[in-house]
Amino acid sequence: MHKREQGSRVKIVSTGFYAPEKVLTNADLEKMVDTTDEWIVSRSGVKERRIASAEQATSDLCIEAARRALRNGHFKVEDIDLIIVATASPDTIFPSTACWVQEGLKADHVAAFDIGAGCTGFLYGLILAESLILSGVSKRILLIGGEVLSKITNWKDRATCVLFGDAAGAAVLEESRDDSGILSHYWKADGSLAGLLFQPAGGTRMPASVQTVAGDLHYIQMKGNEVFKHAVKRMGESAVEALKRAGLRKEDIRWFIPHQANTRIIDATAERLQVPPEKVYVNIQRYGNVSVACIPICLHELHVAGKLKKGDIILLDAFGAGFTWAAVAYRW
Ligand code: ACO
Repeated sequence: MHKREQGSRVKIVSTGFYAPEKVLTNADLEKMVDTTDEWIVSRSGVKERRIASAEQATSDLCIEAARRALRNGHFKVEDIDLIIVATASPDTIFPSTACWVQEGLKADHVAAFDIGAGCTGFLYGLILAESLILSGVSKRILLIGGEVLSKITNWKDRATCVLFGDAAGAAVLEESRDDSGILSHYWKADGSLAGLLFQPAGGTRMPASVQTVAGDLHYIQMKGNEVFKHAVKRMGESAVEALKRAGLRKEDIRWFIPHQANTRIIDATAERLQVPPEKVYVNIQRYGNVSVACIPICLHELHVAGKLKKGDIILLDAFGAGFTWAAVAYRW
């Protein structure tokens, strides 16, 4: 799908997010693993992250984010006709987290399913929602990106546990009545690199057993520096392609909203695109890498701060496990 004509676009009409109350700072982490605030900030940009309580699963965060997005748009649950949840940390392998969310919202009239696309899931969801709305399958979609990564993180592995956090972000999407909305997109995947960032055990490849638990195989495993190189390359590629497909130049970008995995990845991508730092939105210092929740939270924060003006061109750009990568050019 390429450049869209006016009147056939899909837009975000409301946003909301939820992050658990518990804050885990770098100073707290210094007491848990052999690390320092200086190392974490200089290598990743993260200063603190939120951690779900023992009782909270991914759907609980998603439900709260969804309620806030519905409330902010003055929507009732009955106003939506589909729930899509993007997550890499589902409540259960089956049923989908979206079904737990549907039950929590008492949205028993809608269809519901999950998307698994690593940290790129929210953008995959946006692209899918666009085509479902434009084809007439759905009228108004609740798209949620939620993670409780703290429960699949190895808290003894200093190379990963300092990076991630828990949160959920939600958006309501419908057909646009003006020229605002999704202008173009680009999405891709490369499964040959799946082993560089994954959760080895707990699925059908390596079912849960005493050995897998003893070997810490139910936690995120990541070759950080390999992921880093691919993320910079692929986020650059996505951004350039999405701009080209929308007929836009880099100078047209008002806000570049990248996946919040690491400030060095963000800086390198922005530099490659020649987008100046004041046009790049970064909140990784407060939440860490919350995977699929990063982009909707950034959008919500910019919106409530009054920093998104009608007509602003926004470039959303993400990379994640799979590997997967995508970008969406958007007119606010
Ligand atoms: N504190 C102190 N030292 C540490 C820590 C830590 N928390 N973690 C690792 N180190 C050490 C390593 O052991 C290594 O020590 P050595 O040189 O003695 O062996 C040294 O620091 C350097 O380690 P590297 O892994 O080479 O460090 P690097 O500069 O690559 O930074 C990082 C690591 C932050 C993980 C980086 O590679 C990165 O951010 N990669 C991308 C990760 C990412 O974005 N993942 C998510 C993308 S997709 C998604 O969001 C799911």
